[in-house]
This record gives sequence, structure tokens and C-alpha cells, in this order.
Amino acid sequence: MSPAASGGQRAAGNKLRLVILGSGSGTNCQVLLDACAQPGFPAQVAVVISDVEDAKILDRARKAGVEALYLPPGRFRTKLDPEAEQRYIAALRERGVGLVCLAGFMRIIKADFLNAFSGRVINIHPALLPAFPGLESWKQALDYGAKVAGCTVHFVDAGIDSGPIILQAAVPVLDNDTAQTLHARVQVEEHRIYPEAVRLIAEGRLRIEGRRVIRRE
Ligand code: GAR
Repeated sequence: MSPAASGGQRAAGNKLRLVILGSGSGTNCQVLLDACAQPGFPAQVAVVISDVEDAKILDRARKAGVEALYLPPGRFRTKLDPEAEQRYIAALRERGVGLVCLAGFMRIIKADFLNAFSGRVINIHPALLPAFPGLESWKQALDYGAKVAGCTVHFVDAGIDSGPIILQAAVPVLDNDTAQTLHARVQVEEHRIYPEAVRLIAEGRLRIEGRRVIRRE
């Protein structure tokens, strides 16, 4: 886990090079693109990659003047097949990527990929982990009757939404919430904490001790 926590592999003064992987609308990708467009932000988006050819996330990249790449996922539904996984790894290496940001990427990342970018893969998840891992977590929280929902940025490990937690934010669940209204409120917080987490990593301000991610001020 140490490479990302210590700021990634790059020359002093250079910005951390990100890849954003996503399958859908890409609102989290957008806030990362916007943050990286700020002159003082310590990271830049090298490429946005999707496993869905017509995903809106790719349009967002093109509009921002960032390379947008569709890489077919292969024959499986929930993960990249081994050949596709190698193509993803090669594409990231070719572009000198120092941090992989999952933003609504709806496939499980397996060991070969994680080993290739050890400690340098992070994810935004729409729940207060370890509660409600998996899919449509805001809906899981609503259906369960939770009074507080939220989101988590975490390092990715071999489990499902189980890696060390970088940042979390909570939102109340209101009596008249629907899945849509709750997800919208969770996303407001996602859009705040994801760029913040990237900044902390890019500035080398995180240290991992066991499961705990410790922040240096
Ligand atoms: C986000 O809410 C993100 O937390 C979630 O997908 C949404 C993508 O939205 N991710 C997961 O559920 C991963 N398990 P976006 O495309 O607008 O960023």
C-alpha cells in the first residue's frame, strides 16, 4: 500500500498522473477533471478509460481535452477477462499512470491488476463502509432503514469494497427519501471527498498502518 500513500512514483515537482476508470455517467470523473484543471492541484488526468463504448464518462473526458479510451472488457460480465486485463495494464503503463481512480467502474478489479498497481488503486463507494458493500448501496441503506447514509473513498484490495478507508462523509436519510433523492445527496458528498482524497495522496500526506490510513497535516 505504500506507493500511493507516499505520493506515487514521480519526479519531484511533477503532477501525479491519474487514470479514471468508469462505466457510466461520470459525475465523479467530472469533479476530478475539474479539480485537475485548477493550476495548483497536484494531479493531472492522463486518460479516462471505460469498458462501455458509449459511456458518458468518455464524452466528459473529450470535452475536457483529455484522452478518452474505450477498452472492451472481454467475455465476462462482472470482471475483465485475463486478456482485457492485460490490455488495461499495458494502457496504464504506457501512459505513466501513478494512481488509478475508479469512478463508477462496475467490474471487480482482480489480483493481476492490483499487483501491477500495488497500493495505487482507489475507489469511491456510495455507502459508509463496511456497511453496504456491493451494488446500489444507497438503495441498500434506504431499504435497510438506516438513518445515516454516506460515501467512502478507499484503497482497493482483493476483497469487495474492503480496502483501507481514506475519507468518509455522512448524509441523513430523510423519511421522504427515494433511492434517487438519497443517491443525489450522497453524490454531493462524493464530489467533495473524492478530489480531496486525490489531493492528499498526490501530496504524499497519507500513511497506512494496518487497516488505518493516517493523515499528516
Ligand atoms: C457513484 O455513486 C459511485 O459511488 C458508485 O457509482 C456511482 C457512479 O456515479 N460506485 C459504486 O457503486 C461502486 N461499487 P458517476 O458515474 O456519476 O460518478
